[in-house]
Amino acid sequence: MTALEPASIIVPLAVTLRTADREDLPKLEWYGQYIHFRNLFRRAFREQQLGRRLILVADCNHFPIGYLFIQFAPADEGSLKRAYLYSFRVMEMFRGQGIGTRLLQYAEVVIRQRDHNWALISVAKNNPAAHRLYERMGYRVYAEDEGRWHYVDHRGNLRYVHEPCWMLQKQIVTG
Ligand SMILES: CC(C)(COP(=O)(O)OP(=O)(O)OC[C@H]1O[C@@H](n2cnc3c(N)ncnc32)[C@H](O)[C@@H]1OP(=O)(O)O)[C@@H](O)C(=O)NCCC(=O)NCCS
Repeated sequence: MTALEPASIIVPLAVTLRTADREDLPKLEWYGQYIHFRNLFRRAFREQQLGRRLILVADCNHFPIGYLFIQFAPADEGSLKRAYLYSFRVMEMFRGQGIGTRLLQYAEVVIRQRDHNWALISVAKNNPAAHRLYERMGYRVYAEDEGRWHYVDHRGNLRYVHEPCWMLQKQIVTG
C-alpha cells in the first residue's frame, strides 16, 4: 500500500469585525465547547439591546470564530467611565494571525465612541500569552484578584470558578 502525498491548498478567508446579532447566539457556543455559558451569552445579548454591553464578533463565513464582550459601567463620582472587557477568545485554529489584536483595537474604538475613558481586562495568572498581548496593546497591571465568581450553566446548575488573575487597565483617550 502506498501512502498518499499530502496536498495543500491556500484558502483566503475574509474576517469581518461587527456587533453580534441574535443569530450569533447559539454559534457563540462553538458547537458545544461553550454550551455551559449559554445563560451568560443570552444575558449579555439582552444587555446589548439595552446599551449596557456589546458583543463584538470576528465573523468568518457567517460564523463567529472569535469574540470579545464589553460591559459599560456607569460613570462613578470622579467621572471615570470604565468599560470591562471579558469573554475574549479566538478559535484555536485561527489564533496567532492578528484576529485577537484587531478585536481589542475595535473594542477600544467602540469604547471611545461611547465616551468611556478606561478599558479594563482580567487575565488568569496562568495565561502568559494573553497577558503578553495585553501588555503589548498598552494595558498595565493595577491589581490582582482571587477571581472567584459563579454562573448558572445551561442545565441550571450553579458553577463556581476560581481563577486568580491580574487586572489590567488602559486609558482610552477621548475627544
Ligand atoms: C488570547 C486570544 C484571544 C488572542 O487571539 P489571537 O487571535 O491569537 O491574537 P493575535 O494573533 O492578535 O496575537 C497573538 C499572538 O500572535 C501574534 N500575531 C499577531 N499577528 C500575527 C500574524 N499576522 N501572524 C502571526 N502571528 C501573529 C502576536 O504577535 C501574538 O504573539 P505573542 O504570543 O508574542 O503575544 C487567543 O489566544 C485565545 O482565544 N486564547 C484562549 C482564550 C484566552 O486565553 N482568552 C483570554 C482570556 S483573558
